[in-house]
Amino acid sequence: MSIIFHEKTKVFHLQNNAISYIMMVLPNGQMGHLYFGKKIHDREDFGDLLETAPRPMSSCTFEGNKSFSLEHIKQELPSYGTGDYRSPAVEVRQENGSRISSFQYHSHHVGSGKPKLPGLPATYVEDKAEAETLVLDLYDDVAGIWAEAFYTIFAEGGVIARSVRYINKGSQPVQLSRAMSLCLDLPDCEYDWVQFSGVWARERHLKSRRLTMGIQSVGSMRGNSSHEHNPFVILKRPDTGERHGEAIGFSFVYSGNFLMQAEVDGHDNTRVLVGIHPDTFEWQLGLKESFQTPEAVMAYTDLGLNHLSQAFHKLFQKRLARGYWRDRVRPILINNWEATYFDFTEEKLVHIAEKAKECGVELFVLDDGWFGARSSDHAGLGDWAANKERLANGITGLAERIEGIGMKFGLWFEPEMVNKDSDLYRSHPDWILQVPGRPNTHGRNQFVLDFSRAEVVDCIYEMMAKILREAKVSYIKWDMNRSITECFSQAYGPKQQGEIFHRYILGVYDLYERLTSEFPEVLFESCASGGGRFDPGILYYAPQGWASDNSDAVERMKIQYGTSMCYPISSIGSHVSVVPNHQMFRNTPLHTRANVAYFGTFGYELDLNKLTEEEIEEVKGQIAFMKEYRSLLQFGTFYRLKSPFEGNEMAWMAVSEDKKTAVVGWYRILNAVNGAFTRVKLEGLCGEFCYENSQDGSKHYGDELMNFGLITSDATAGQQPENQAPCTDYESRIYVLKAIG
Ligand code: DGJ
Repeated sequence: MSIIFHEKTKVFHLQNNAISYIMMVLPNGQMGHLYFGKKIHDREDFGDLLETAPRPMSSCTFEGNKSFSLEHIKQELPSYGTGDYRSPAVEVRQENGSRISSFQYHSHHVGSGKPKLPGLPATYVEDKAEAETLVLDLYDDVAGIWAEAFYTIFAEGGVIARSVRYINKGSQPVQLSRAMSLCLDLPDCEYDWVQFSGVWARERHLKSRRLTMGIQSVGSMRGNSSHEHNPFVILKRPDTGERHGEAIGFSFVYSGNFLMQAEVDGHDNTRVLVGIHPDTFEWQLGLKESFQTPEAVMAYTDLGLNHLSQAFHKLFQKRLARGYWRDRVRPILINNWEATYFDFTEEKLVHIAEKAKECGVELFVLDDGWFGARSSDHAGLGDWAANKERLANGITGLAERIEGIGMKFGLWFEPEMVNKDSDLYRSHPDWILQVPGRPNTHGRNQFVLDFSRAEVVDCIYEMMAKILREAKVSYIKWDMNRSITECFSQAYGPKQQGEIFHRYILGVYDLYERLTSEFPEVLFESCASGGGRFDPGILYYAPQGWASDNSDAVERMKIQYGTSMCYPISSIGSHVSVVPNHQMFRNTPLHTRANVAYFGTFGYELDLNKLTEEEIEEVKGQIAFMKEYRSLLQFGTFYRLKSPFEGNEMAWMAVSEDKKTAVVGWYRILNAVNGAFTRVKLEGLCGEFCYENSQDGSKHYGDELMNFGLITSDATAGQQPENQAPCTDYESRIYVLKAIG
């Protein structure tokens, strides 16, 4: 890995074994973009890649020179109003009302490693040799604003991390009304735009369309990254598949409002922008003040989508997630939510925990309803002390009983919310986000606390920390069950109201940072009505997240498959729940529910006491299986084999680092009468190893399994097999392959 600077031509070339990222100082002093893709040879002058040519009717920078037009030039930090009519990366509103700016190169420095982003989640290094960072010092001398543009190239993989810090060194306060984290101008538009979108209970479905002239975008203006759109987008060549082809993935390490867009201009250039959503953002930059954008990460591959995902998995698992749990297999948990909802007593909970312990479950999680006057979702949020009518011995007493059974104890919080029927709201009615004189919109009967205010965050911190100090709590589920409305803080003046969305998220991050620092061994799982805030920002604090409130195995195939495009398997919260399923009212076999949940953190979301003896034996087997293979499933190399978005079957697999063991999950949604012969081509095995198949003891070499495939046909489909249960809808199988000899 190296960052080369050619003094004479003012060309920067960031490169490692996989990629090159090249840019240069333009004749007008701004930064121009030249290339991002597979590694290419270095040379002194890459100026021809700018492809400047006189274009009719263009706005040109230099009088008499028709070739240099910002309209057509690929740039690094473009602004609007000096010839470029595309969406800009930055907009600075100055005292005289002007929004024109132009950031010119001043100097740069290169350092090994990667600096932290104060107050913000970001990828990191543990050893300075893992990455190099280039900082470009750019300035607009009229406004007196400087921009430090950070580019980190990692030694391994095709990954570049970017962010920008704006500093007011001038003599007038200004307002940042747009501060995107990443701009990438690509020289063509031959891409499919792939996004991960949906809605509550249907998160991160893969949607793809061809780029075309104009703007295509996803984003959130809900205050959370949202169920609707994930801050992850892929641009892939139309013929790119899982195993081959070029793709660039863009991920935004942020949990609030975001925008990711691709703009194709009339000459088929594509501009990608990633950053805080400018429609809900303004930031006052007073004299000497600075503003740091969140980080955007982009990764290039020419080896297909699986390879791209693996790059993100590795980075996010090892150099974004942090702390005690980062490298540890995750405890198998039981959560009481779908078992009891609000209807529980201490005895009922202990009864559930005891049965779970008997089956081998390691962690009991008490969900919503244990605090304040919380007997329904109308009251209690904000009063983070145990309801003694329900839990006579408080959380301390319950945690002791659970520990006494031999399990760890986990607890649900929804720190950012308040019900009006709560002591917290009665004491501090001004602590919610609200616009004076206007009605408050509610969601799930609750209101959003003003986390832009330090005293609000302090108060919640103290309540939560008190419980964690007193009781033996090993796990926290941090929920967030509504998006933000009336985003107005009574603590800030009129000019700063555009800052509140961002300040809110900074408050969330601050609370996470304080809690994870004081209680480093507590495992945090994020949740926002399921997958409403499943993003890399939160992953920095909580190494796993509840992927969706939809626990139906068939629905989960799509949700987890889509999620796996960016996020590591160790981060995907996935449980076995009861049938008929509470969201879909569908009956799926117990083994299929587990076979889907294995590719995640794994747990149960039901009362095991209600299962038959036969089912309990099956559950015991599932837990024993997960304990044996969770290290491989959660931390092995993951491959998607068949997409649930494309057909009736899905398959995926995880392979151990030494390639000696693999676990393949195969799933068929609807049964087929006298169906076709089916097989699935495996990935990542060693062609030379002979593997024994756990399903039937058959032995096959890796090269055969990867080229002919693993046979998944039911020879018996359509008739009752002898001495076997008939195949049904929602069938699935787990194949464990072990290298022998
Ligand atoms: C939404 C979560 O996604 C559920 O798992 C559960 O924790 C409820 N909130 C509790 O209110």
